[in-house]
Amino acid sequence: MITRFSAPGKVILFGEHFVIYGVKAILCAINKRVFVTAESIQEEKIIIKSEIGDLKLDKGVLDVDLPLKPIYFLADKMLHGQSKIKGIKVTIRSEIPIGAGLGSSSACCVAAAGAISGLFSIKSKKEILALAIEAEKTIFKDTSGADCTVSTFGGIIEYDKTGFSKIESNFQLVISNSNVKHSTEKIVGRVQEFKKENEKEFSDFCALESDLISDALELLKKNDIKKLGSLVVQNQKLLEKIGVSNDTLQKMIEIGDRSSYGSKITGAGDGGCIYSLTDETNASKTLDEFKSNYECFLAEIDLKGLDVF
Ligand code: PMV
Repeated sequence: MITRFSAPGKVILFGEHFVIYGVKAILCAINKRVFVTAESIQEEKIIIKSEIGDLKLDKGVLDVDLPLKPIYFLADKMLHGQSKIKGIKVTIRSEIPIGAGLGSSSACCVAAAGAISGLFSIKSKKEILALAIEAEKTIFKDTSGADCTVSTFGGIIEYDKTGFSKIESNFQLVISNSNVKHSTEKIVGRVQEFKKENEKEFSDFCALESDLISDALELLKKNDIKKLGSLVVQNQKLLEKIGVSNDTLQKMIEIGDRSSYGSKITGAGDGGCIYSLTDETNASKTLDEFKSNYECFLAEIDLKGLDVF
């Protein structure tokens, strides 16, 4: 038996880092995907093939290499306590740059949760999301779950740890890559340190972010992209204050701010990508500003989320 599932990457429009501490975030799924094929095999093994490495292991192994650990976890969990399927081969192909704040790891967890669990029984998106978050926690225990949620359900969502709802809006995003890979766990740890040393300041920032997101939700619903841009700029400033930007990213933000309505980091920061908020009037001009020096593209909103292929 073979199952094939794909899931999209994402941009965090507002609220990364603060979402871990209970503030709302706004995210958008984008038209770059991870494709996962799962196959039941006769050999009693878990085999994973991907662009970032291959793996062939017995069931029940505890110390699995980090990047592929969530996928191994999913296969091992599903094989446990049943006799119908002996082994699983998983093949992963991705269009999403790795370690770039575009949710490649979460999309991989979501598509793999869909494909691997699909070998055993049909599951709802909600059940697949729960599996994906459990898998992601094997490499990043503090995940807010926001990335996996938007990847599963697609579209634009407002999210906090208690749940999510969809938002209708329309805009274009120019995404530019610093090509500096980041480790989400490391940067989240750094923010934790900042919070420990600056409790009052951090709590003020959370309150500011929360207000900013309430305003952003109103503007998104009215589709006032121009005014929304000024909130993007404000959110970027807050990220700078908690120390997740750097000189390379600042330079890119300046370039983005020339023609777009506002630019900010997406994801953990200290590397990875920034996005610039645009519409049809300034998208190609913004893209032109980046083209000669950075890997960049115009992203569309993905409305499907997790899907079969
Ligand atoms: O950089 P990414 O794609 O791993 O995004 C991380 C977003 C954080 O808010 C920093 C962490 C989280 O789990 O929400």
